Amino acid sequence: MILANENFYKVQATYLFSDIARRVSEFTEANKDASVIRLGIGDVTRALPQACVDAMIKATTEMGADDTFRGYGPDYGYDFLREAIALHDFKARGADISADEIFVSDGAKCDTGNFQELFAATGTKVAVPDPVYPVYVDTNVMAGRTGYAVDGRYENLAYLDCTEANNFVPAVPEEQVDLIYLCFPNNPTGATATKEQLKAFVDYAHENKALILFDAAYEAFIVDDDIPHSIYEIEGAKEVAVEFRSFSKNAGFTGTRCGYTVVPEECRVFNSKGEAVPLAPLWKRRMSTKFNGVSYPVQRAAEAVYSEEGGAQCKALVDGYLANAKVIRERIAQKGFKPVGGDNSPYIWFNTGMDSWKFFDKLLKEAQVVTTPGSGFGRCGNGYIRISAFNSMENVVKAMDRVCSVL
Ligand code: MLT
Repeated sequence: MILANENFYKVQATYLFSDIARRVSEFTEANKDASVIRLGIGDVTRALPQACVDAMIKATTEMGADDTFRGYGPDYGYDFLREAIALHDFKARGADISADEIFVSDGAKCDTGNFQELFAATGTKVAVPDPVYPVYVDTNVMAGRTGYAVDGRYENLAYLDCTEANNFVPAVPEEQVDLIYLCFPNNPTGATATKEQLKAFVDYAHENKALILFDAAYEAFIVDDDIPHSIYEIEGAKEVAVEFRSFSKNAGFTGTRCGYTVVPEECRVFNSKGEAVPLAPLWKRRMSTKFNGVSYPVQRAAEAVYSEEGGAQCKALVDGYLANAKVIRERIAQKGFKPVGGDNSPYIWFNTGMDSWKFFDKLLKEAQVVTTPGSGFGRCGNGYIRISAFNSMENVVKAMDRVCSVL
């Protein structure tokens, strides 16, 4: 008899963004004339940078000729991309990460979801921020590391509250945990963490033999000089932290798919005898068994992000989304709400004073604007809404006019 993995029954029936998509499609079906503006899921709307398109075309042409054709690529990514990443994303910021500590993948969602496979199925105590990107939680539930959800929280998970009182940056866990997920700039709140705040987590991980999984998918949106872009800007982080990055939001790769994970050589976990063992060999083993790499044209396109031309084009994309975020922030503030995020991030988060889903429905039905209900990210998100800046300025202005007219 083939038994189902019953842990799947513990997870909420549908993924948050699938649930929203269903509600929006029901609404548009019933209201054929509606002109819905989407500021919900963080999906980019602007075209790929021209430098990436040119690099992809050139690489595709190479694939079309026998003498330049390439079959399977290297398991962990082509050296040209790994080296460009190490140089521009880390060494340029004083973080000593080398090319062979970088593992190219099809995106941060997959990597943040898959990474938990490297840890013991039982006995690993996991801490997540609340509110939280659902992938961190759901993948651990599927793996059997939690009990059932009770009042919106899974048993045996440690939740780190992110509220107005702590400026949406959680304190280190009060209890002993083994694995800690962090995301800065944060999805969904848009909050950022200082070096001191990250240092507290790095120190905690050293003291408690824990590991930090640091999601930096939105680092390109940081404009303030004193905010760290990488956990490796913090002393001691290489032993206790893995970092996830994405080309989705800075270079518009949500449909193109490319990201990477950094597993430093010094990074350690522990075996059942309590001995420290390197983590990187486990990730390498997992990647070479389950993944055959990102296509050559896409890796060439990602490499182009680091060219002078590509860098300027990515900056223009990010600046455009940040300009949208500023409009959203200001319009929300004018209505008397207290927006968080949107200054160093593409997400704006605010307390609506009513039930998140009711507010979501109100904006969908009365303003025809799609947002994301904060309660979908966890109990601390109750009453909040997230607005994404990923759209054109024209649509953002139109959407905010409509939203403000119904508030
Ligand atoms: C979001 O809206 O939270 C993002 O699109 C998540 C993602 O990048 O998967």
